Amino acid sequence: MLHSLSTTDFTNLWSGSSWIILTIILFVSRWAFSKFNASDAEKGPRQVGHTIPFIGHALTMAKDKKTFFMNALKENKYQPFWILVAGRRHYIFSDLTDAGAIHKNENDISIRNIKSFLYTQVFGVSKPDADLIWDVNKEAYSVDRRWLLGREEQDKITSQYFRHVDHHMNGLTRRILQSDGKEISVDGLLTVVYLEGTSTIQTFYGDTTLRKHPQILEDMIYVVTKGFKPILFGVPRVLAPKPYAARDRIISAFAELAEELDQRDDVSGYFQERYTYINSRGVSRKAIGADMFRHLFASLLNSLPTTYLAVLHILQSEELIRAIRLELTTAGYNNISPEQRVEVLPEKTPLLRSVWFETLRMHNNLITLRNVERETNIATRPEWTLPKGAVVSVPAVLIHYNETLHPEPDVFQPTRFLDRSMGGKGENAGRTLKPFGGGSSYCPGRVFGEKQLMGFVAELVMRFDVELVEEEFAVPPVSDFDDLWKQPRSHWKLKQKVQN
Ligand code: HEM
Ligand SMILES: *[C@@H]1O[C@H](CO)[C@@H](O)[C@H](O)[C@H]1NC(C)=O
Repeated sequence: MLHSLSTTDFTNLWSGSSWIILTIILFVSRWAFSKFNASDAEKGPRQVGHTIPFIGHALTMAKDKKTFFMNALKENKYQPFWILVAGRRHYIFSDLTDAGAIHKNENDISIRNIKSFLYTQVFGVSKPDADLIWDVNKEAYSVDRRWLLGREEQDKITSQYFRHVDHHMNGLTRRILQSDGKEISVDGLLTVVYLEGTSTIQTFYGDTTLRKHPQILEDMIYVVTKGFKPILFGVPRVLAPKPYAARDRIISAFAELAEELDQRDDVSGYFQERYTYINSRGVSRKAIGADMFRHLFASLLNSLPTTYLAVLHILQSEELIRAIRLELTTAGYNNISPEQRVEVLPEKTPLLRSVWFETLRMHNNLITLRNVERETNIATRPEWTLPKGAVVSVPAVLIHYNETLHPEPDVFQPTRFLDRSMGGKGENAGRTLKPFGGGSSYCPGRVFGEKQLMGFVAELVMRFDVELVEEEFAVPPVSDFDDLWKQPRSHWKLKQKVQN
């Protein structure tokens, strides 16, 4: 199914998510120009200068956000600073306590404009529908939290997911047994995308959705890796028919699902509840389809790269593979059904858990964006005024590469987040990582995401002898999907593992 994708050579200078960020910045600046008065904001952080007026920073940020922010912070002696982006002040914070204070002041420093922009511009939703979705968000979010974080409900979702992963892994096993040398070589990224992606779609949206619309995953990848630029800049459809077509195929597949929700008994209870509610509030079918598309983005675009990168790290260390296998064997993994894996992952796999956090720490490239709705300050910086119309940002890399919080930040240390009592470094992920945003939009999938990764990784190392094929491949610095897609691919050699 994904074969056509493997030959894709995406050589554009700009990547999808970079364009999102650039466009958000430019878009937001439209109204900033009229409202923002630069002279009344002197009681605040210093500016870090830039090279090209107005769009200089937007370009730098979009091309290599990580290096840019790290250098700018250093240049400003590790204090908060601001940069001028398309005429608008972006206040950049790097401290965890600041991040907490920003997320607490949600009325004044809000995500609303950012979200609304995504719905209208990226997903093509009308302004009234986008407003309605904002209104139903609070209730919908509590449904998310219950199904994705509540123990019992989450176990239901996760056991379905593990069952699907198991099924697709059987397919890989069959391919190995049918091959001449009882050994196959697979494209690592495509394998993660296909296995984890398909299993996730089946789990939430149901088999029927995927059977009726088998191109959903491929269309999503197309939109993310090639289609963002024209969509974001509102290039007329006649000039860029393919991106719009791919986006709209997904949205109409999901709008159809919304229409037939009662008849589809393979849709998760979670989606039944979430979308029955949103439907009851008068949101249009098309907008519901768009919301389901946003959910697809949320549930895959971070998880898939994180899993792929974790595997790349794991496969480079025989010792680590052995340790993960031992942990799983000790936890009884070999003797349980896919559904029972919810009792093992992650409670009995602290090493794998540490690997998940360490991968997020090193590669997550989130930039929290908030809009300052009215002149305000944050509790940690009472003397500073954040002017109305400014943007507040917390780039995760500035926290994740802070040497005080994470000694030797450039080194991948699989046991960094493992308890000292188990021989690890004992860092506390909950307190020192910020990959999931915060406040009222704090990622509700943060625990399921871990299980997506573990379900895949555990099966991979327990079923197969797996090795990196000796070839040029990169360990991409950041986990943005579009970036990853362009990097030299790793290939994995799979054989059936001799059971022990
Ligand atoms: C590596 C895995 C993941 C990462 C790093 C991640 C990160 C994030 C971040 C940063 C946000 C909030 C943005 C903000 O507040 O500024 C977010 C929101 C969200 N995430 Fe995740 N996420 C991950 C996995 C998942 C998964 C697996 C799901 C679903 C099963 C999910 C569902 C959501 C949803 C629905 C929201 C929006 C909440 C709202 O309504 O505002 N995420 N995620
Ligand atoms: C790094 O983390 C420490 C401990 O939380 C904090 O005091 C410091 O301000 C952080 N550095 C930066 C540049 O934010």
